Amino acid sequence: MNVATMDLLVSLCKRRGFIFQSSEIYGGTGSCWDYGPLGVELKNNVKRAWWRDNVHLRPDMVGLDASILMHATVWKASGHLDHFTDPMVDCKACQHRFRADKLEEQSWIHYCPATKGNKFEVPAAEACKHCGARRSLCPDCGKGELTTPRQFNLMFKTFMGPVEEDAAVTYLRPETAQGIFVNFDNVLQSMRLKLPFGIAQIGKAFRNEITPGNFIFRTREFEQMEIEFFVNPQETIDGRPADEVWHERWMESRFAWYQRYGMRRENLRIREHEKDELAHYAKRTVDIEYQFPIGWSELEGIANRTDFDLKQHAQFSGKSLTYFDEERKQHVVPYVIEPSAGADRSVLAFLADAYREEEVRGERRVVMRFHPDLAPVKIAVLPLLKKRPEIVATAHELRGALAKRWVSVYDDTAAIGRLYRRQDEVGTPYCVTVDVQTVGDTAKGESGDRCVTIRERDSMEQIRVPLAELPGIFERLLGDGAWTDVARSYPPAKG
Ligand code: GAP
Repeated sequence: MNVATMDLLVSLCKRRGFIFQSSEIYGGTGSCWDYGPLGVELKNNVKRAWWRDNVHLRPDMVGLDASILMHATVWKASGHLDHFTDPMVDCKACQHRFRADKLEEQSWIHYCPATKGNKFEVPAAEACKHCGARRSLCPDCGKGELTTPRQFNLMFKTFMGPVEEDAAVTYLRPETAQGIFVNFDNVLQSMRLKLPFGIAQIGKAFRNEITPGNFIFRTREFEQMEIEFFVNPQETIDGRPADEVWHERWMESRFAWYQRYGMRRENLRIREHEKDELAHYAKRTVDIEYQFPIGWSELEGIANRTDFDLKQHAQFSGKSLTYFDEERKQHVVPYVIEPSAGADRSVLAFLADAYREEEVRGERRVVMRFHPDLAPVKIAVLPLLKKRPEIVATAHELRGALAKRWVSVYDDTAAIGRLYRRQDEVGTPYCVTVDVQTVGDTAKGESGDRCVTIRERDSMEQIRVPLAELPGIFERLLGDGAWTDVARSYPPAKG
């Protein structure tokens, strides 16, 4: 269970430089968010971990970075022009716009006739407990009638070139996947690949969502981390169709991935799509759901898209998009397994999962327990006394040396206890403190012990280590080494 509410996360993200509302000084745009200094590090770390694990570490995967603007026919062939729509209704009084299929999922304003017209907010899908009425009017203002639903295409339309004419119409891509399908043959030929293999891509996608919201959960501009994994549909594995087996392998692999980076098992679950909710191209789809502060919701979708996309693009482009099966001496159109994750939604899930409130010596501390690979800052170097030039100089020098390898910061803007709390709140796994003992007192002719204190974020344990050994120690701590293993080789430092 998460203790983080959405309000707590939004406030922490703003206060600590993770995420700001876009164009805030102009009143903000509700559906767009800007990643601040720590947010950009966190999101880059999520993308880097995904890319390393899914591209670099796999012998059967290559990467791609296709353009956002594509030939307009791509969207006809993919079905987005005809099918990528949501039913929309408008309030005739307040003009608010809603997704017709989601109306019952939100609470509604009701002026109850049984209580002289008093205003109530009735929970989603419930009837008024005073008069028994169900929602029939606008859920926001409680007064206006709603229009009949009409289909609204979610793609952002724009024009390519200087003339705004029909021939110049194009769209911002609503998913990165199509850039992969249209490059299937380029990648296959240039890289001499054999089935099964995957093409991975991270990039921006745009959807003119009718009801964006819940912070970075649903926005109009977002990033996807998508894999199209191509499988020979003629093949079987242990007597079962290869595409079905690979679908299951990907479900397991992706489910494990989130846990590898610290997400708690109890906050993750798999949801199978019902037959009637399957997308027009899908043979089977499962969602990895996360228990967000707003409840269980999709974090990643893993679909078996069959040969739909390659066949559509072959038909619309007139180009063959097949694979030559040497063994069977025939051309086949591969099936596609598509694990499709949202980078921003993953960031939200990692933020929610990392958030903890703890009681330490009678005081409340907020700590973000990010996995070290995801933590925006790995090491904070803190001088115990900023009035001592030798301490400050040593700390700066140390930060500079560590920063060549790990994102490291220097901070001397508060007393040490406060500095530790600040680093806890942004999830920095290790703090290094330089003190009088480290540098000694030249006025008294005392040389320092050239040792510093390392403090670990989660246990708050501290050890005293020689400066010269720091690179080796962090190589272990920020690699595969456990704190307990490293800490047992050094004396504890006083807290
Ligand atoms: N190519 C398949 C595809 O795009 P999707 O389920 O529509 O499938 C995949 O999107 C993932 O992209 C979602 O699981 C979610 O993480 C992310 N995503 C989709 N729409 C989003 C939005 N409006 N804002 C943020 N993330 C979104």
